[in-house]
Amino acid sequence: MALKLSVIGCGYLGATHAACMSSLGFEVVGVDTDQSKVEMLSKGELPFYEPGLDTLLAAEISNGRLTFSTDFATVADADVHFICVGTPQSKDGLAADLTYVKASVSAIAPHVKEGSLIVGKSTVPVGTAQLLRDQLAISAPQADLAWNPEFLREGFAVEDTLTPNRLVVGVTNDRAEVILKEVYKPIIDLGTPWIRADLPTAELVKVAANSFLATKISFINAMAEVCEAAGGDVTVLAKAIGYDPRIGNRFLQAGIGFGGGCLPKDIRAFMARAEELGANQALEFLREIDAINIRARKRMIDVVRADLSDDLTQYKIVVLGATFKPDSDDVRDSPALDIAAQLQAAGATVVVHDPKGIEPARKRFPNLDYQEKVVDAVKGADAILHLTEWKEYRELDPSVIGQLVKSKFIIDGRNMLDRNKWRAAGWRFHALGRTD
Ligand code: UGA
Repeated sequence: MALKLSVIGCGYLGATHAACMSSLGFEVVGVDTDQSKVEMLSKGELPFYEPGLDTLLAAEISNGRLTFSTDFATVADADVHFICVGTPQSKDGLAADLTYVKASVSAIAPHVKEGSLIVGKSTVPVGTAQLLRDQLAISAPQADLAWNPEFLREGFAVEDTLTPNRLVVGVTNDRAEVILKEVYKPIIDLGTPWIRADLPTAELVKVAANSFLATKISFINAMAEVCEAAGGDVTVLAKAIGYDPRIGNRFLQAGIGFGGGCLPKDIRAFMARAEELGANQALEFLREIDAINIRARKRMIDVVRADLSDDLTQYKIVVLGATFKPDSDDVRDSPALDIAAQLQAAGATVVVHDPKGIEPARKRFPNLDYQEKVVDAVKGADAILHLTEWKEYRELDPSVIGQLVKSKFIIDGRNMLDRNKWRAAGWRFHALGRTD
């Protein structure tokens, strides 16, 4: 008989995992404490924007394999329970807040059946899985626990879940591995590498991967700073070093740096955990990675000030992009929004446009001015800042936009616009990390 699955926490990770596992043919129940989220998902509606997930979700709801509930007792039938709740940064420090992980495991413990497997997917500080195992030994000795970190990227969530570049499972026995192999059989059959690890290694793989990615981005942004000082061009530098396959050309896009709900908080939580373990020196470099990243936002503001004036009160600045990356409506720790808010705090009149992120952005920064259309946003602008690289911004016609602004001046904070095209239309064009 096919395994039955439950997914605890139906946010970004959980909703994606539930819909994708259902699409593999499993009966899946998703459980979340947020009534309105559960109601939306039950109707096949996605509470956030993610390309391709909306149609997948609707299809799985209508074929009846996928259901959602606020009742933890609905997990009783499931053989495998995936924990997909958030682990945000704590309010009072760098560490990850494990409240939701602990609460969800406690909530399902009274309901899980004999022989079932609880599988953590949330990003947690190393040692959490063992802690939960110790708790389960008392509250639900009939169940086992494994860890299976998730590497999906927003904007590619379905693709990354159904065709990941590897599957990593942290287990303490063969039986847990056999169960997970049964769940992921269709994906393994595609030739996906399978890595069995112990629990701490599985937990560490995730934060190590995100730390490496953050390091790559901050490395190239550090090179951008040096290029600015030395009269170089970071885009050419990135291209040139990227041809070395040991370096690779991905994640070397210089600009205003990384944001989102993962990279920033994960490197901070990793540092906090290393300190608890007495290994703080090993991760000291991540402090610098974080500092370079925050500095990239400040450098953007410095460029605006250097180009317009120290006093920004007379200027209208248009920010293109509010989300932390394109093809997402996620504005958590978005560099673009942070810069917009800082410019407004400095006295500028700031207008923000984004194809998908205006409503979430408005919730975070209600006092910024938002416009639904680029042509409305740019009217009378003294400067345009390109801060999230949505495709539609690359397709803008500089001649059309040029007729609407007060001053034809654009700064590319993502190094993605075609500067020849803009300059040919009479624009002053600046970019981070490029001096000419
Ligand atoms: C990241 C990881 O890439 C995923 O593998 C991981 O599963 C996920 O976090 C997570 O922990 O859940 P995501 O947050 O969706 O995924 O975003 P990324 O694509 O990694 O981009 C992060 C930020 O880095 C964005 O703000 C992006 O604009 C910035 N970035 C990325 C750059 O500034 N330069 C680059 O070259 C690449």
